[in-house]
Amino acid sequence: MSVPADETVLDAALAAGLNLPHSCKSGHCGSCRARLLAGSVHYPAGRPLGLMAAEEAAGFALLCRARAAGDLVVEARVIRSVTDVEIKTLPCRIDAREPLAPDVLRLMLRLPAVENFRFLPGQYLDVLADGGRRRSFSIASPPHDAARLELHVRHVPGGTFTGGLFAQQAAGALLRIEGPIGQFVYTDDASPAIFIAGGTGFAPVKSMLRHALERGTARDLWLYWGARTPIDLYEEALVREWVERHPRLRYTGVLSAAADAGHASGLVHETVLTRHADLAPFDVYAAGPPAMIEAIRATLPARGLVLERLHFDSFDYAPDVTRQA
Ligand SMILES: Cc1cc2nc3c(=O)[nH]c(=O)nc-3n(C[C@H](O)[C@H](O)[C@H](O)COP(=O)(O)OP(=O)(O)OC[C@H]3O[C@@H](n4cnc5c(N)ncnc54)[C@H](O)[C@@H]3O)c2cc1C
Ligand code: FES
Repeated sequence: MSVPADETVLDAALAAGLNLPHSCKSGHCGSCRARLLAGSVHYPAGRPLGLMAAEEAAGFALLCRARAAGDLVVEARVIRSVTDVEIKTLPCRIDAREPLAPDVLRLMLRLPAVENFRFLPGQYLDVLADGGRRRSFSIASPPHDAARLELHVRHVPGGTFTGGLFAQQAAGALLRIEGPIGQFVYTDDASPAIFIAGGTGFAPVKSMLRHALERGTARDLWLYWGARTPIDLYEEALVREWVERHPRLRYTGVLSAAADAGHASGLVHETVLTRHADLAPFDVYAAGPPAMIEAIRATLPARGLVLERLHFDSFDYAPDVTRQA
């Protein structure tokens, strides 16, 4: 495949029919991260925010921003099953809405009966607003329970979309959505797995854990859920029920702005580091605010976590741009 000097490696690969993983295409989300086996790349606007210096030094590149500086051999992450799901634009109705915490709503979306909306555990959808604006929300339901799609929406103070949603009282509103999107996808495996959720980052983790637990998994699972106060761990009672029923699952809630006997204190990634001296055997799935994801990427690999086994979704809020193809 040849790559014009002014084209990104990702765009050239997509144009050549290679379905490489990507999401934001702006150098933030890390979905397009790949390892350079030979050759080098450069970034006209400097190293993208989604690529840590240590990752670059270890030979990783973000293909959505990278320009080839000569012949390249690239080892890209292969997401077998993502290519099986079709991205659709669909109307849907808010069938039910329920407060989960003072600033979090559960929405249940009903899709047209004729539509077969297939997705993978961990993926998200975009709510389409006027003028090409989009708002991303992870799907909290697992693929095997998709008659309605569950979302957990946190109210962003001053937020256009979430503010409007919290101001409405009744269910029944119509939305247009596009999805499923994203490469943050759970794959069952024999190795142990750690899930790290920050706030509503619990939504995709819930989809993954329900998929693993209800479909039956043989792996050991750890869930660390970080939030400010106990009320922000809004489905902790459900998590504790899971732990009762599934001995392979261990759970720790972590509070950053409160302290009590039932939870750890501090930042959630610090608790993970305290509990696991060696992360070499683990897969890690992390979702939540960008600062949490950055802290995880900056610290967990130093404990032996293999970079390819760190799967994450950063709840970045991109500027209002229409998603590029
Ligand atoms: C892949 C992905 C999955 C996501 N999944 C979820 C999810 O499951 N649940 C969920 O609650 N959120 C999720 N988010 C975040 C969510 O998309 C944003 O919070 C939402 O788009 C805000 O829309 P808004 O119109 O209300 O705010 P805007 O009008 O876009 O923003 C208003 C102001 O708030 C700031 N802002 C916007 N979003 C945030 C934020 N998240 N945190 C802090 N400040 C912000 C903006 O910079 C702006 O200054 C996800 C984001 C991504 C990228
Ligand atoms: S697609 Fe390249 S960083 Fe998001």
